[in-house]
Amino acid sequence: MTDDPTFVRSAGQWEDADAPAGGSAGPDATFLADVLAGLAQTPKAIPARWFYDRRGSELFEEITALSEYYPTRVETELLARHCGDVGRIAGAGRAVVEFGSGSSVKTPHLLSCIDPAAYVPIDISGDFLRDSAAALARDFPGLPVLPVEANFMQPVPLPPAVAGTPKLGFFPGSTIGNLVPRSGVNLLRDMVATLGEGAMLLIGMDRVKDEATLVRAYADAAGVTAAFNLNLLHRINRELDGDIPVDAFRHRAVWNDTWSRIEMHLAAERDVAFSIGGRRFSLRAGETIHTENSHKYTPRSARQLLAAGGWTPLREWSDPDEMFALILAEARPEPVAP
Ligand code: AVI
Repeated sequence: MTDDPTFVRSAGQWEDADAPAGGSAGPDATFLADVLAGLAQTPKAIPARWFYDRRGSELFEEITALSEYYPTRVETELLARHCGDVGRIAGAGRAVVEFGSGSSVKTPHLLSCIDPAAYVPIDISGDFLRDSAAALARDFPGLPVLPVEANFMQPVPLPPAVAGTPKLGFFPGSTIGNLVPRSGVNLLRDMVATLGEGAMLLIGMDRVKDEATLVRAYADAAGVTAAFNLNLLHRINRELDGDIPVDAFRHRAVWNDTWSRIEMHLAAERDVAFSIGGRRFSLRAGETIHTENSHKYTPRSARQLLAAGGWTPLREWSDPDEMFALILAEARPEPVAP
């Protein structure tokens, strides 16, 4: 089981597939350390953040358009349908702060109905951030767009221009689900620190549903999610001087009911041995490398996670089939017991 406290899904991992990560100085030391440590442990696991090199990011974009992968489609519909309500509850004049904004594809829906004072996208990738911020500034003339290049997995200092402005955080995509609960709570608390008491947060959270629908969303018929998962091994070979026989591995998506999550694994189909950066590893046939968790929430578990992270849910919207939920929450001072 992966207990990954450092997941960041971000355009920040959109590196040039042909260039070594971290520039021309050699392999990315953090990537190498994560892979070596993850393959030395039992069971083997590699943090999901390393999916997102350029090819991985392209494959993720393809995933979001798959018929089986409902979260993007349903969340976008929910945003379009309910952003007027969000605007009425949040009120005009807030600075919208998006965590891990990436390509900011869902943002225009929100900005167009809440009359914001400013838009502050936070992303770890400066280049990508500036491009998407410039595109948004063109679409919303007059709106101050203030990109911040930072890792949002810790409190982020916001631009002084929005210091006295009430904030609305935006964290779509159920990216929170890629964190184990302990890390999710830490992130939510860091968001309170970033946005301040009294801020609001609009967060997307995927719902628990029948197992077949969940597994299909992560094991699509066209094999795009399989390619996304296997790309991690190609990336290791490319960037970390590995010789993993990628064709010996199969993508596997399984529902873990105990932890209420879809897990992605790479399963060895035969005994394999390989080296990475000069270190030798082996897997027995059937052994797996755990590569991702995607937690799913009931209405109650979603509220409990938010509350543990310092956020009081104010209102939630779901689709008729209860596939996905958008929750608007407020950062309130911790109440004295009870
Ligand atoms: C980014 N994250 C919310 C996606 C998810 O659904 O957990 C990543 C993903 N992995 C496979 N398909 C999509």
